[in-house]
Amino acid sequence: MILMDGKALAAKRKSELRAKVDKLPRKPGLAVILVGDDPASRTYVNGKRRDCGECGFYSEEYTLPAETAQAEILALIDELNGREDIDGILVQLPLPKGLDSRALLDAIRPDKDVDCFHPVNVGKLFSGQKGGFAPCTPAGVMDLLHEYGISPKGKHCVVLGRSNIVGKPMAALLLAEDGTVTVCHSATPDLARKCATADILVSAVGKAGLVTGDMVKEGAVVVDVAMNRNAEGKLCGDVVMEEVAEKAAYLTPVPGGVGPMTRAGLMDNTYRAACRHLNVSPD
Ligand code: GUN
Repeated sequence: MILMDGKALAAKRKSELRAKVDKLPRKPGLAVILVGDDPASRTYVNGKRRDCGECGFYSEEYTLPAETAQAEILALIDELNGREDIDGILVQLPLPKGLDSRALLDAIRPDKDVDCFHPVNVGKLFSGQKGGFAPCTPAGVMDLLHEYGISPKGKHCVVLGRSNIVGKPMAALLLAEDGTVTVCHSATPDLARKCATADILVSAVGKAGLVTGDMVKEGAVVVDVAMNRNAEGKLCGDVVMEEVAEKAAYLTPVPGGVGPMTRAGLMDNTYRAACRHLNVSPD
């Protein structure tokens, strides 16, 4: 079994970006909005700030109290939409109860929607049109698969989870590369049997212990997108590593697999947004 090293590939991607950023007339700029004090979100936002520094980007962070009114956040997004030094705007999810996430995400200008959550970018993704953004986590998974010489073409790909952040865009990217895709979710019967037919299994549910050895076909590629804490408080994904390692040909670790690739994907999107705003080629 080969462990797919997302940490190493993300570091490589970030240093490639750093070299390209040095040639731009100004730094790419990312604004991150964090509402409330969810500790996991805080950790993610800190990571994004570090990544921006490593890639030579300008970054701004807005930490707002959980009680902030929707209108106030909309006004902030509006201001950032109009700023020339800000190429990307990210509203960290989940938002506190009472806020309408959809309305806030829809307010971000599509050319600054580096998360690929705006309907215009989601529409471009699903219809195969160029000029949108790649969704960070699924794009990071594809990059990792390519790096290890794995193509979805002609393979049965099973995606566990149907979220707008991971499951749905993951299915779109696998399909775009000629995978035959099954999306499973909480109402799917016979989950174990369906997973056991997967050549490529991507789990993005958020339930420690979900994917056991008997659910994995011999020689499968298993990608674990989840970030959970087990009973001892240790970070883990959905996959029972010890069992699945006996069956899979390739497996992503948690941590150090998909997580760093997601963050590298965000940096890449921010760089691409800046190139578009500056009218220069990203390559
Ligand atoms: N929360 C968990 N994952 C993500 C992500 O990819 N983007 C945003 N904005 N929030 C998240």
